[in-house]
Amino acid sequence: MKKRVLFVDDEASVLDGLQRLLRQKRNEWEMAFAPGGREALGLMKEKPFDVIVSDMRMPEMSGAELLTTVMNEYPKTVRFALSGQTDREMFFQSLSSSHQFLSKPCEAECLINTIERAFSLRELLLSANLTRLVTQLRVIPSLPKLYVDVVSELRSPNASVQRVGEIIAQDMAMSVKVLQLINSAFFGLHYHVSSPTQAASLLGLDILKSLVLVVHVFGSAKNVHLPAGLVEHLWAHSLVVGRGAQALARKMDLDKRSVDDAFIAGLFHDLGRLLLILNLPEQYAQAIKGFQEKYVLLTDAETAVFGATHAEIGGYLLGLWGFSDPVVEAAAFHHRPSECIGNHTGILAAVHVASASDNIWGELSATRPYAELDKKYLEKAGFAAPLDDWMTLCRQVSAQGYKKNG
Ligand SMILES: [Fe+2]
Ligand SMILES: [Fe+2]
Repeated sequence: MKKRVLFVDDEASVLDGLQRLLRQKRNEWEMAFAPGGREALGLMKEKPFDVIVSDMRMPEMSGAELLTTVMNEYPKTVRFALSGQTDREMFFQSLSSSHQFLSKPCEAECLINTIERAFSLRELLLSANLTRLVTQLRVIPSLPKLYVDVVSELRSPNASVQRVGEIIAQDMAMSVKVLQLINSAFFGLHYHVSSPTQAASLLGLDILKSLVLVVHVFGSAKNVHLPAGLVEHLWAHSLVVGRGAQALARKMDLDKRSVDDAFIAGLFHDLGRLLLILNLPEQYAQAIKGFQEKYVLLTDAETAVFGATHAEIGGYLLGLWGFSDPVVEAAAFHHRPSECIGNHTGILAAVHVASASDNIWGELSATRPYAELDKKYLEKAGFAAPLDDWMTLCRQVSAQGYKKNG
């Protein structure tokens, strides 16, 4: 069946351009073009679309408003914000209402690639094995109320760093934990951050809200009876990989948004492991045993036991929680990036290398140097040459993380 894709822009010339650019896809996609939000919602009502790509700045109904309505009424539709505007407000709003932000002008190849990746990601996350595994999970960390409040504030037309800081500050316990983390050696900041508002303006709201979530998720695993040190280890590994992926993304000269996404993806890349440990501890122990004794990769051992891997299940939950596509994709493919189709943004590579490096050099040592690296992928994506430098950089991040936070 053809995929249905809807493009929305108030400028006729942009729509004409898109129509021309995308003619090559007309046998695979059923495309429609709407000049505004109202028309777009009318078309959605007739028959929902699989994907909507909307301009952000439109006179009658803004792109953020349109995408938020689509999110609420048609949650299965994949939402892309396409915008030439880079102002902060527009960006905040697009962050919380879209799966991915695309900058104008967007070449046909980039647009097609992004939409196709969105389809393949969803196919992976809806695969029968994974769905079967998901239904076995009883303990799924919920989104904390604070996080939901922050996200809804970000969606409001007058969202501000100040307001978000105030909302977080109202939850004293969470503020203390998040500030502790920000002021710890992991962040390597050279000054003391004393309030959530200051943290928001220094780190950006997207990073701050992810820290609130990661602290909550790991906090909720604290009281569960698990082998000593397991959750602590995963926590340290998550932080190290977040920082490592961020450092690699900077080294690749990615834009600020992608550097932030690399950090966030690194922070959550092994969320699936936490989920499996919490829900199916005995089977997980069995998978780890297979991994250690039979000299196989962890993901292969997991597939043998569960039919899916921690990477896919983590990606699934991140998708459900509304994380952007590049973050979900990096988590879902972080062990096998070559299975991810299309051209890549660098975020996946950053998380893949940072995680593999920490598994080799860090305390989760797999004692199999480079075995976890997907060489085929790194070569194809043009990342083979800087690999040694990258590994050195990640090793420094790991050493710093474990030394100071032991
Ligand atoms: Fe992993
Ligand atoms: Fe990892």
